[in-house]
Order: sequence, then C-alpha cells, then structure tokens
Amino acid sequence: MVEEVLDAEERASLKTRIKTLMKEQDAVLVAHYYTSADLQDLAEETGGCVSDSLEMARFGHAHPARTLTVAGVKFMGETAKILNPEKRVLMPDLGAECSLDLACPADEFTAFCDAHPDRLSVVYANTSAEVKARADWVVTSGIAVKIVKYLHQQGHKLLWAPDRHLGEYVRRVSGADMILWQGSCVVHEAFKAEALKSLHAAHPAAAVLVHPESPESVIALADIVGSTTQLIEAVRTLPNPEFIVATDNGIFHKMHAAAPGKTLIEAPTAGEGATCVSCAHCPWMAMNGLRKLAAVLESAAVGKRSANEIHVEESVGQRARRSIQKMLDFAAAEKAGRIQLGD
Ligand code: 13P
Ligand code: SF4
Repeated sequence: MVEEVLDAEERASLKTRIKTLMKEQDAVLVAHYYTSADLQDLAEETGGCVSDSLEMARFGHAHPARTLTVAGVKFMGETAKILNPEKRVLMPDLGAECSLDLACPADEFTAFCDAHPDRLSVVYANTSAEVKARADWVVTSGIAVKIVKYLHQQGHKLLWAPDRHLGEYVRRVSGADMILWQGSCVVHEAFKAEALKSLHAAHPAAAVLVHPESPESVIALADIVGSTTQLIEAVRTLPNPEFIVATDNGIFHKMHAAAPGKTLIEAPTAGEGATCVSCAHCPWMAMNGLRKLAAVLESAAVGKRSANEIHVEESVGQRARRSIQKMLDFAAAEKAGRIQLGD
C-alpha cells in the first residue's frame, strides 16, 4: 500500500474542504503518529490530536465533539466507539487492519482464556472489540509494563495476547508469570539486530530507540524502549545528536518537529548487503489520507449513515468498555501518585 501523493494545490484544497466539513459536522480529528504528515498536521491545525494509542483513547473520550474522525487502524476507531457509544466514529478506510488484531480471533482467544481460568487476561489495545470484551484488562505499549507490574504485585498470574514480542518484553521487565499468545506486528518484526549493530557502530554517538513490538534481539540493543510518545520524548530530551529509530517511519514527522537540530536514522529492516535499508511503514496506516477523509466526511453529512462509520454491538461495547476504562483509571491514578509500583 502506497501513501497518497498530493501536489500543493490539491493538498490545500482538500484541507479547506475537510475543515469546512468538520465544522459542519462537529467533528474532531484524532490521528496516530504513523499516519501521513498531512493528516497529522491537519489534526493539530483543527484542534484535534496526534498521539500514541493511549492518548488517542483519552483524547477522544474527553473531547466534546459529536463526531470523532479517527485516522489510524480499525482497533483505534473501535476503541473510540467503545468509550463513546453516543458519538459517531468515522474512519478514512475501514479496511485499515492490524496484523496483531488479525492474529487473535475472538473465538480462539476465548478458548485460550477458558483453558486457564486461574489467570487474569491482559490484552494489548491492538485487538478487536470482541477480544477486549472477553479480557480482564486492556493495555497499550505506553502503560503495559506498569499495569502488569501492578497485577503481578497483587499476586495475579496472567495470560497475554496478542503480541509475543511486547509480551516477552513486559514479562522480562515485570517478572510476572505470563502465558503468551504468539502474534506479531509485521512492521516491527522486520527490524534486524545484526544490521542494527553495524549501523550503531558507524554512528557511535547515536541513541537507539526501539518500540517494544520489536524482536527481543533488537530490544536488547536499545537505549530506550517505549511507546511512540515515549520515543518522541526521548528524541526531545536526550542529549545525543543522533538517533537510530526502530519503529514505523511515520513517526519521523513528529520527531523532526520535536528536535529540529537532531539527526534521525531509520533502523534497518533488511539484513546486511541488502539494497533496501528500511521499509518500516505499516501498510494499513498508509491507507489513511486526505482524499479518503474528505470523501468520508462528504458521504457522512449530518443525518446520513456512512459506510465508514464504526459500529460496535452494545453488549460487546459494554464489556469492552469495562476493561479499557480500568486502564484509563489506572493511568489517571498512577499519574496522580495514587499507585506505587516497586522495582
Ligand atoms: P503506540 O501505542 O505506541 O502508539 O503503538 C501503537 C501501534 O500500533 C504500534 O505499532
Ligand atoms: Fe498493527 Fe504493526 Fe501496523 Fe501498529 S504498525 S497498526 S502493530 S501492524
């Protein structure tokens, strides 16, 4: 999937049209860091937000707009709908999936839980509404370690789904007893440790930033492991002049803005000797674009039912809301210092 290509004139005219439609429809745009620079800029220009999946959920929930337009992948739109059943949630392309979500069908996940009734289930946000409805807890990469540490300290044994690399990382850091589902992210799984070592040797002053959906051998080389927001924060705050970044290259737009003087280098997704250096871009995130956003808002003029609207069955939504809300409540309590985590 190739991202849309626009010339300056078409970009400007689409943005103007979208801004008018958003006002007419009381809509706000919530975009992920992996979507196009155009969508990220538009979200900020119109009072929306660009963030990681935890903040996307929080922002959409707190914002008063009656329509949430979510630029990202389907689980992000579903999370917005689950938390805001009274709002209309639209997406530029409902075909924007996620390999983690696809790797964890609800019936198989239910059987996994049923086979381990003595364990609490913790699922990554990159899952369907049905899987979230069956789970005890939902987490995002930004808060997974803290929640699992907390549950471990409460004496719980856990089931984890679907990302095996993130699960492995969380298990290592927290020391929790976890049984892992074996899904993976097609983008992060492609990062190569040996090629990363060579690249780092050529740039010894660089800090290595890694998203925890990457393989263990790549995480082992990281100076910082974190969610997309945490990696952007590292570029802004660390003193290094250079950074090697192992996550989707859509994030470079915000990283450049956060630290304009610093050099950002893509971590290799191909082995040594290959001609392609890095192609770390999510094919589903790339399905979002200004043209599709304009078309969706046009088709969804107030009162019309849009083909790109997210629907979640009410009983599924209610149960999924409970496990997502636990995460949001935990995040708020932790921020306010009401939860103390040991090492
Ligand atoms: P973040 O929550 O870190 O933004 O991750 C979402 C995602 O899909 C990463 O591939
Ligand atoms: Fe899913 Fe990976 Fe794409 Fe994130 S980058 S949405 S985890 S496939």
